Amino acid sequence: MHWTRKTAIIAAALLLATFVSKAVAQSSQPEVSKEKNWWRNAVFYEIYPRSFADSNNDGIGDLKGITAHLDYLKELGVDAIWLTPCYPSPQVDFGYDISDYEAIDPKYGTMADFDHLVAEAGKRHIRVLMDMVMNHTSDKHKWFLQSRLSKDNPYRDWYMWHDGQGETATDKGQVPNNWQSDFGHSAWEWDDKTRQYYYHKFYIQQPDLNWNNPKVHQAFKDILAFWLKKGVAGFRFDAITTLFEDPQMRDEDVLHDKNGQPFKNAYGDTALNDTRTNNLPEVHTVMAEMRQEADKFSTDKYPGSRVFIGETYLPNVAELLKQYGTFEHPEFQLPMDTQLGFINKLDVVTFRARLEDAEDDLGNNVPLIIFDNHDNPRLDARYGDGVHDTDIERVISTILFASRGASLFYYGDEIGMKTTPPTRKEDVKDPVGITGWPKEKGRDGERTPMQWTPGPNAGFDDAKAKPWLPVPPSAATINVQMEQGSPASLLTWYEELIRLKKTNRAFFEGSDTMLDTENTKVLSWKREAAGAPPVVVALNFTAEPQTVNLVGPGLPDGALNTLLKTPGGPSTTSLKAIQLGPYGVYIGQLQFMISH
Ligand code: NOJ
Repeated sequence: MHWTRKTAIIAAALLLATFVSKAVAQSSQPEVSKEKNWWRNAVFYEIYPRSFADSNNDGIGDLKGITAHLDYLKELGVDAIWLTPCYPSPQVDFGYDISDYEAIDPKYGTMADFDHLVAEAGKRHIRVLMDMVMNHTSDKHKWFLQSRLSKDNPYRDWYMWHDGQGETATDKGQVPNNWQSDFGHSAWEWDDKTRQYYYHKFYIQQPDLNWNNPKVHQAFKDILAFWLKKGVAGFRFDAITTLFEDPQMRDEDVLHDKNGQPFKNAYGDTALNDTRTNNLPEVHTVMAEMRQEADKFSTDKYPGSRVFIGETYLPNVAELLKQYGTFEHPEFQLPMDTQLGFINKLDVVTFRARLEDAEDDLGNNVPLIIFDNHDNPRLDARYGDGVHDTDIERVISTILFASRGASLFYYGDEIGMKTTPPTRKEDVKDPVGITGWPKEKGRDGERTPMQWTPGPNAGFDDAKAKPWLPVPPSAATINVQMEQGSPASLLTWYEELIRLKKTNRAFFEGSDTMLDTENTKVLSWKREAAGAPPVVVALNFTAEPQTVNLVGPGLPDGALNTLLKTPGGPSTTSLKAIQLGPYGVYIGQLQFMISH
C-alpha cells in the first residue's frame, strides 16, 4: 500500500482492529496446557524452595509451602515454575550438591508432596520444571563414594581423577594444572586414600562427572525419564556449558588488567580465562542426546512438549544460537539470553543491540529473556539508582514481557524485593561469601524469604521459627498483601504486563523492530503481527522527562490507544509526541493496521 492511501483505509481498519483486539482479549490465552509449542511465549517463574514459603515452620521453605501459593502464581499469569534443586543434598551449595537424583530432600517434604504439587499446579495450567545438575554431584552421592574407594572401582572413571604433577609414593606433587574453581582457588582436590586429585568446577564437595564415560550419559537419561514419567514439563540445566574440559589439560590463560598486570579476582586468585573448561563443543552432542530422550515423551500420555532451559552464560549471540541445536538434532528450546539480562547497566545503545541480536540472529528460535536469578544481586542492586528503583523495575520488566520470546523471572521480583546482603561475615550462609568476604559477600542477599505480608517474618512462616536467612526490613512495605489490588504497585504492573503478553496479538506473536534507533535516552520498539494493529513501546532510561516521536517509515502519525503506562505518568495521544516521565514506560496500540 502507498503511503498516501493509508489514511483512506484508517476508518475501516479501525473498526476491524477494535473487533480483533476485543476478540483476542475475550478468547484470552490459548489453552496452553496441551499445545506443543506452549513454551514459545510462556512466562516462567523461578522458585528457590528454601526461601518461598515455610509450611512446617522449621525456618526453611518447602514443597507444601509452594503448593499453598499456586493460586497466587496463577493470578499472576505464570505458565510454569522452575524449582531449584529439592533433591536430597548435604546442602553445601543449598541443593546444587545432589546426593540422590530420584528423591526429595526431607527438608522440603516427601515424594507424595512433590506429586501433589505437580497435580495441583496442573489443575491451574501451571507446569513444573526441575533443575538438572549434570556437571557434578555431591561428594556424598553413592557414585562418588564408590569412585573414591579405589583406583579400580567400577565408578572410578565416572569422575575426573588425575595424578599430581611430580607425584611420588610419598609426595602428592603439584596440582595437575592451573584450573580454578568458580568458587575460588584451585579446582583440584587431593584425595589421600587413592593418592590422586579430583576436579571440581564448583565447591570441593561438588566433584565433576566425567562426560567422556558413556555410563554417565545413560545414568542421566534414566534420571530424566524418572522425572518425566512423574509429569514434569522439563528441566533447567545447571552449569551446562561446563560439562567438558580440555582433554590435553592445558593451563588456562591468565587475564590481565589494562596496565598489563595479572588481574586478581575477589578470592585473591589470579583471574584466568576459561577457554579450556567452559563451552567446549562436546556439550552439544550430550544435549542433543538428552533432548532426544525427552522428546520420546511427546505422546498422547504426555501431551505437549518437554522444554529444556539452559543456564547459558555465553560471550555472544553466535554461541547462544548454537545452544538451540539444529532441526535434525535439537538441543535447548530456551537457552537463557544472559547477554541481554546481565548488561547490568541502563544503557540504551547496548540494550538495543542485544535485543536486535535476539530478533535477527537466532533464526526461527525464540529467545528466553531473563534478568534475575538466585546467583546475582537483585534488580535494585544491578539497575536501580536508589531513588527510582520501582520505576526502573517497570522499565526492566517491560523489556522482559513486551519483547518477543519467553520470559523468566525470579520470585520476589514482581513485588520489588531488595537485595539484602549480610553485614557481618559470621552471618553469611553461602560458602562463596565465606571464601570471598568482604569483597564477595556471596548470594544470601538475593535469597531472603519471600515477602507475603507486612507481618512477622513477612508471612514466610508462622513466625515461631527463625527463617534460614533474615527477612529484610523492607518487607514492611514491599509485600504481596499490600501490593495486591493496588493500582500503582509493581505487582499490579507485572500482572498487567503479563496479561498483555498473552492477550494482545502483537505481543504474543508479533515481530520486534527497534524504532528511533539514534536515541540514546529512550529505547523504543514496535511489535507487529499480521491482522493486528502494531503496538509501540517506549522506555525512558533517564531521570529526566523525555518526549519521543516514533512516526517513520511504516508508522504514519495517528491516534494511539494507551495500553499501559507508568502510573501517574504523562498522557500521550499521538505517536508524534510520546511523553515519558523519569524512567517512564509507555505502551500504546495504533488505532489502525498497516499493510505492507
Ligand atoms: C549454577 C547455579 O545456579 C548455582 O547456584 C550453583 O552454585 C552452581 N551452578 C553450581 O551448581
